[in-house]
Amino acid sequence: VLGHDLRNPLGAIMMSATMMMRKEGPDWPHQRTASQILSSGVRMDRMIGDLVDFTRTRLGKGIPIIRKHGDLEAICRDAVDELAAFHPDAIVRFEATGDLSGEWDGGRLGQALSNLIGNAYEHGASGEAIDVAARGDNDGVIVTVHNIGPTIPKGADIFSPFRQGESLPAKSRATRSLGLGLYIAHAIAAAHEGSLVVDSANNHTTFTLRLPRRAVTPAASE
Ligand SMILES: Nc1ncnc2c1ncn2[C@@H]1O[C@H](COP(=O)(O)OP(=O)(O)OP(=O)(O)O)[C@@H](O)[C@H]1O
Ligand SMILES: [Mg+2]
Repeated sequence: VLGHDLRNPLGAIMMSATMMMRKEGPDWPHQRTASQILSSGVRMDRMIGDLVDFTRTRLGKGIPIIRKHGDLEAICRDAVDELAAFHPDAIVRFEATGDLSGEWDGGRLGQALSNLIGNAYEHGASGEAIDVAARGDNDGVIVTVHNIGPTIPKGADIFSPFRQGESLPAKSRATRSLGLGLYIAHAIAAAHEGSLVVDSANNHTTFTLRLPRRAVTPAASE
């Protein structure tokens, strides 16, 4: 409830910033300030969303998903494009092979992939490429997100809520985050009856998301 109460006024703030920017045009001296308001709003909105999701997983049976027929290639591409749009310095490569169609909750998988790709950028080494690959086979699809950068210590409980690596400062101090991203991504994979695992060694980190093409157990399709 609180999440929704916070989101409405925040939405109004973001909308106002967008309207001012549009109305005043690129020569407006406050263009930068307004775009700062907007990007802070987007970040805050995401954090509120993560907190709402976290509360939901604690109250009930995980993340609710609605499966619809869709193409995972488009979902991956959107997440890749989103990172490139927000961070022009990011180098992201994307490769898709095989049949990537299935029954999924596109919005939720997009959210999980955005966090994985965002993590590769935030927590990976600057100037190194991020590789996203989606592969379809008989069992389902596998998406890997690979980056070069500091290795995640063995036993670091990164899939638990509010867990963040102390030794890894975010690229910019303005990027305050909660440490809920992987917890939620893992819950989204589980809701699809899939899995999310990490392999991190010798400065190479790969997250692997495995998804069956459709619900395996009948009850999970609701
Ligand atoms: N690709 C990666 N390389 C190195 N460390 C990583 C990587 N992805 C995640 N981590 C580590 O795992 C921690 C948890 O990740 P998670 O996505 O849950 O939280 P966050 O990115 O810190 O914050 P949030 O996603 O909530 O904005 C990170 O703080 C970081 O220490
Ligand atoms: Mg994250």
